[in-house]
Amino acid sequence: MKQKILVTGGTGYIGSHTVVELQKAGFNVIIIDDLSNSSEAVVGQIEQITGIRPEFHCLNMLDAGLLDDFFAKSKGIDAVIHFAAFKAVGESVEKPLAYYRNNLISLVNLFECMEKYKSDYLVFSSSCTVYGQPDQLPVTENTPRKAAESPYGNTKIVCEDIIRDFTRANKQIQTIALRYFNPIGAHPSALIGELPNGVPGNLVPFVTQTAAGLREQLSVFGNDYNTPDGSCIRDYINVVDLAKAHVIAIERLLKRKNESSFEFFNVGTGNGVSVLELLKAFQKATGQKVNYKIVDRRAGDIEKIFADTTKANKVLGWKATATLEETLLSAWNWEKKIRKIG
Ligand code: UD1
Repeated sequence: MKQKILVTGGTGYIGSHTVVELQKAGFNVIIIDDLSNSSEAVVGQIEQITGIRPEFHCLNMLDAGLLDDFFAKSKGIDAVIHFAAFKAVGESVEKPLAYYRNNLISLVNLFECMEKYKSDYLVFSSSCTVYGQPDQLPVTENTPRKAAESPYGNTKIVCEDIIRDFTRANKQIQTIALRYFNPIGAHPSALIGELPNGVPGNLVPFVTQTAAGLREQLSVFGNDYNTPDGSCIRDYINVVDLAKAHVIAIERLLKRKNESSFEFFNVGTGNGVSVLELLKAFQKATGQKVNYKIVDRRAGDIEKIFADTTKANKVLGWKATATLEETLLSAWNWEKKIRKIG
């Protein structure tokens, strides 16, 4: 019997790539998603890649009654990966209550169901945002967390605290939080990828849309940071590599190999890349020159951050494998596919 994994937010960007990798690893996947930032067509795209159509339910996790009914009917969920959350930093500043309600209550509702229906294992989507601007680089999992710069960032900190407290109170529940750095790229098939709503807030979708002619010019937010070329530094992680980290985390939980009931891991490449370096790599990988101008710094941006991934390498046996150029090429191939560019 295949083990049954519930993926919340499974039609979203990272969720859909993770569903593919879970199916490839032999798991039976059930997706719940409210489709607020994704489309049901993704279920068919996943089927095209793997040959297996995942079970899908359109469900808003804020409705505790509906979530309970879902758990009651879907007997024997072995483990859960919880992606469903709002994720736009700027929007969270304008709509903090929507962010707190959505991101915190969905986790509380999920844990209540997991407890009631004896589903003991959770992989949670956390973020490097919990480190703020760290005093030392690269950041390890022991680097202290800092006060969040945005309500979105704070929801990740509070969710981690909810997990810490709940896994202390209920010894059956075991959780792994993965702290993602900057996920980019798309599946090599170009059948799934990132589909931002409206004007992209994140760098790589803006770059690919500019190259595709949808945007006139990319604004590079600041070239006066204390970095070699003056632009901000991030750790850009390939979305398929990131998806694979979730499969390994699930396998670790199911084999009860974890050392404590709440573990967390940095998931990045370990390489710091500046915005200007990324643009050069994009041009090299795709042959596309992206029109850009330097503008003022963006409020709330941190100067530089990249991961120390030793813990994930040693404990999970996971390592990022894709190069930055391969990853940017996959993002471009996806953009070309959705814009029907030859
Ligand atoms: C932020 C969050 C991260 C979250 C991610 C997804 C923080 C510290 N990080 O990442 O947790 O998962 O959003 O929403 O809160 N840039 C430009 N021009 C643009 C867009 C971006 O120059 O048009 C630059 C930014 O200044 C930054 C880099 O590109 O240096 C990456 O920005 P972005 O893709 O928005 O991600 P983060 O802000 O790092």
